[in-house]
Amino acid sequence: MSIEISTATADDAAALAACAAITFPLACPPDSPPEDIRRHIETQLSVERFEANIDAPGHTILCLRDGEEIAGYSMIVLNQPTDADVLSALSISPVVELSKFYVHPDHHGRGSAAALMAATLELAAASGLPGVWLGVNQENSRALRFYTKNGFRRVGTKRFRLGDRFEDDFILEQALPARTRTAA
Ligand SMILES: CC(C)(COP(=O)(O)OP(=O)(O)OC[C@H]1O[C@@H](n2cnc3c(N)ncnc32)[C@H](O)[C@@H]1OP(=O)(O)O)[C@@H](O)C(=O)NCCC(=O)NCCS
Repeated sequence: MSIEISTATADDAAALAACAAITFPLACPPDSPPEDIRRHIETQLSVERFEANIDAPGHTILCLRDGEEIAGYSMIVLNQPTDADVLSALSISPVVELSKFYVHPDHHGRGSAAALMAATLELAAASGLPGVWLGVNQENSRALRFYTKNGFRRVGTKRFRLGDRFEDDFILEQALPARTRTAA
C-alpha cells in the first residue's frame, strides 16, 4: 500500500463525499438515529459542500490518497471559534480548528491516520497560530485514544447537534510549534 497526502482540489469533491458517507457514521454513537446520520451526510457532506469548503478562504482539506482512491481526509479552518463552551475551555488563542478527520476503515490500525495527522499538524503549524483544537464525540473511544497518542489533551466539553438531538463532545487542544507563517 502506498499512500500520498496532498491538498484537495475541486476534482476531489465527489470522492471526498463518497469517503465521508462511509466514515462519518463510524464517528457517531451506536444509538444515533440512522435517519439523522443520513440527513447529516446529505446536507453537510455532499459534493456541493465539499466543493464550497475546498474554495472557502481559511479552509484547507488534505486528502489521504491510495492510488486513485481517497482513503481519508482532514480539514483545518482558520476561523476562530464562537461557541461559548469552546472559548472557555481552550487555554490557547488564537487557534486552528481541526474540523474534520476521517480515515476509511480499510486503513484503520495501519499507520495511515498517523501520517495524515502529521501532515495536518504541519499544515496547522504553518498558519503561524499557536494552537489547534477539535471536538470529538465522548463515546468515540478509538478516536479519543488516537488523538491523545497524537499530542492532544482534553480541556472541556461541548454539544454537537445531530438531527433533533445534541451529542456530547470532548474538546481537545494541543500547542503548535512556532513557524513562519506560510498558509492562508
Ligand atoms: C479516528 C481514526 C482516524 C484513527 O485512526 P486509526 O488508524 O484507527 O488509529 P490507530 O490505530 O493509530 O489508533 C487507534 C487507537 O485506539 C485503540 N482502539 C481501537 N478501538 C478502540 C476502542 N473501541 N476503544 C478504545 N480504544 C480503541 C487502538 O488500539 C489504538 O490505540 P493503541 O495504538 O494504543 O493500540 C479512525 O479510526 C477513523 O477514521 N475513525 C472513524 C472516523 C472518526 O471517528 N473520526 C474522528 C472524528 S472526530
